[in-house]
Amino acid sequence: MTDRGLDLYSALEEKLGLKKGVPYTPDWSAAPDFIELIVEHSLTEKPQTIVECSSGLTTLMLARCCKMNGSGHLYSLENGAEYAAKTRSYFERYELDEWVTVLDAPLEKMTIHGNEYLWYKSSDISNESIDMLVIDGPPGFMQKNARYPALPVLFERLSDHCVIFLDDAARDDEKELVHLWLNEHPEIEHEYIDTERGCVRLVINRKK
Ligand SMILES: C[S@@+](CC[C@H](N)C(=O)[O-])C[C@H]1O[C@@H](n2cnc3c(N)ncnc32)[C@H](O)[C@@H]1O
Repeated sequence: MTDRGLDLYSALEEKLGLKKGVPYTPDWSAAPDFIELIVEHSLTEKPQTIVECSSGLTTLMLARCCKMNGSGHLYSLENGAEYAAKTRSYFERYELDEWVTVLDAPLEKMTIHGNEYLWYKSSDISNESIDMLVIDGPPGFMQKNARYPALPVLFERLSDHCVIFLDDAARDDEKELVHLWLNEHPEIEHEYIDTERGCVRLVINRKK
């Protein structure tokens, strides 16, 4: 982690009032410039239902945004029981229980367009339509295009104006899966943001 990266994490902790420690893990936590993007979106657009794929540092920061906004709820899908428990252990410290639910979401086999994937059990997400989707898992080493199922599985549950943030978009798999998504949904607006690991921001706007 560069000095600039550490400074950015500190600035985020300061901005969100998270000074009692957060679960930062080199190589596994989202990079600070990605977190800055999702925090900024949460604080300005105030999405009411947020879903994220993978829990950890992003969970605390997004839950804290909901608390600062005074509205909204974050559902975090986590396949690793130990990581889910670790993330939950921080909620009491920051009084965030009301704003976030970490769902134990083991990876399930599914077939999409004839290809097999392992992706989160998502049946426990609330029935509310999703205003913001943050995709930072499952880890890429699990399978090719590990994050591809996020859009096909959740598409019908996205609100008419939903914004999606995909982390690690500079990787070949993420470039390929974004291409697949856009072939299936050419109406989706998209933008590549040149963060440390690359971010793709997609906007669903069904009422244009
Ligand atoms: C890239 S991490 C991102 C987690 C979260 N969005 C964050 O910013 O902290 C994605 C997943 O990797 C897994 N993971 C986290 N830390 C790990 C570690 N030290 N070793 C192996 N897997 C880990 C967890 O299942 C987590 O959901």
